[in-house]
Amino acid sequence: MFGKRSELETPAPVPAKPKPAARPAAQENPKKEVVPPKVATVSAKTMPPRAKKAAASNNQSEEYFQTKTTIFNALIDTIDLSQLAQLDPESAAEEIRDIVNEIISIKGLQMSISEQEALLQDICNDVLGYGPLEPLLARDDIADIMVNGASRVFIEVEGKIELTPVRFRDNAQLMNICQRIVSQVGRRVDESSPICDARLPDGSRVNVIAPPLSIDGAALTIRKFKKDKLTIADLVKFQSISPEGAKVLEVIGNCRINTLISGGTGSGKTTLLNCLTAFIEEDERVITCEDAAELQLQQPHVVRLETRPPNLEGTGEVTMRDLVKNCLRMRPERIIVGEVRGSEAFDLLQAMNTGHDGSMGTLHANSPREALSRLESMITMGGFNLPSRTIREMIVGSVDIIVQAARLRDGSRRITHVTEVIGTEGDTIITQDLFVYDIDGEEDDGRVRGRHKSTGIARPAFWDRAKYYGKHVELAEALDAAAE
Ligand SMILES: Nc1ncnc2c1ncn2[C@@H]1O[C@H](COP(=O)(O)OP(=O)(O)O)[C@@H](O)[C@H]1O
Ligand SMILES: [Mg+2]
Repeated sequence: MFGKRSELETPAPVPAKPKPAARPAAQENPKKEVVPPKVATVSAKTMPPRAKKAAASNNQSEEYFQTKTTIFNALIDTIDLSQLAQLDPESAAEEIRDIVNEIISIKGLQMSISEQEALLQDICNDVLGYGPLEPLLARDDIADIMVNGASRVFIEVEGKIELTPVRFRDNAQLMNICQRIVSQVGRRVDESSPICDARLPDGSRVNVIAPPLSIDGAALTIRKFKKDKLTIADLVKFQSISPEGAKVLEVIGNCRINTLISGGTGSGKTTLLNCLTAFIEEDERVITCEDAAELQLQQPHVVRLETRPPNLEGTGEVTMRDLVKNCLRMRPERIIVGEVRGSEAFDLLQAMNTGHDGSMGTLHANSPREALSRLESMITMGGFNLPSRTIREMIVGSVDIIVQAARLRDGSRRITHVTEVIGTEGDTIITQDLFVYDIDGEEDDGRVRGRHKSTGIARPAFWDRAKYYGKHVELAEALDAAAE
């Protein structure tokens, strides 16, 4: 009956997890192993291409849905789901397995062992895990999962957004799964509080917006947590930046230059920030502030802080500003702010020009210029009541470099500007680009063609600083090489 599906779901070589002896079927098909809600990670790298494709086109026919619904309804009539949820995942799965097998034989449904396994896995996912999302969550090659109501699930793979065949039984099932996700962080999502941020146990970030705000069923967005963060070498390999550009970024990181990373959503800001933190010396005390911890610093002396949303009663919120302000009392050498989006901009700038050199942060803007004006408006809107000239002077006194990240129309990510903030002229902030990415056309296959080039500046404003740290020779070499 589900021949196509089971064939497509040929097992990927997943490192076998310990399994209870009583489940021989799981042995022959490791992917069908019952997955506890939290940990299901199949490394995309270890998946052969065919298996990857199979996972992508997880074909769910109408017939399959119908059979599953029949069995599912019978299951719900038989057992108390809330009691089942109290069991540990292994025993719960065993319980489901027994009942489903019974239902299949009572209803006289014809299916092979592997079809039965597939179905069982699906039902377990529904009852115990994140339902139809499980196979997507298990894939490491997916960056984002976007659910627009029960029947449309999109994913982003290699920079491209694609529709998947995955769907939910109905909007109620989708809401149920949203509820299960957010309840893990002690929150609730329903008509009275339809917006909710949460995090999966693996660190993936989740946003839910439920009806009536989202009109066609709940919208669920998951930014998947990548365990293997990209390094600067990867960025060079992907041509996100030129080797010379990477070298200049290294000098910037080494020499404690205050840096802001600007870019649109998904343009690679956090990735880039993570890369830059790799250039921080081992003996520096670094404090990171994030909304959801994503950065992975390798240094030994790091304190990681995370904001907290208000609880169900609407109290207990700890904002980014609270964290950054508190940071200053923790004797940091550098402060790293995951994403600057509000009044904490003021505190970060203060930190930057009061001896916490080499502090960094990301912000949402489409060009270095726009980043500056965003920064200014964040401070203005923070209610500090400062004249704009003062704010600009403060920005110039604090921020040394803006690195601009962009996601181009072909899905590739590029660092499009490395720009210095050098001073003010009258009321205007003066910047100078060190590197830019020039787009000069398109390949036949739609890929954007362009190249990184230096703007020919041989002595950037941070030259003296580079010299102080003994990095000026490296800097000069990189700039020279880029100018050729
Ligand atoms: N230079 C790059 N090349 C390819 N993929 C990248 C690059 N930079 C980031 N990514 C991927 O893009 C996704 C979004 O990156 P992220 O840094 O979280 O973006 P942002 O913080 O701007 O929203 C991640 O899956 C990340 O691995
Ligand atoms: Mg980010």
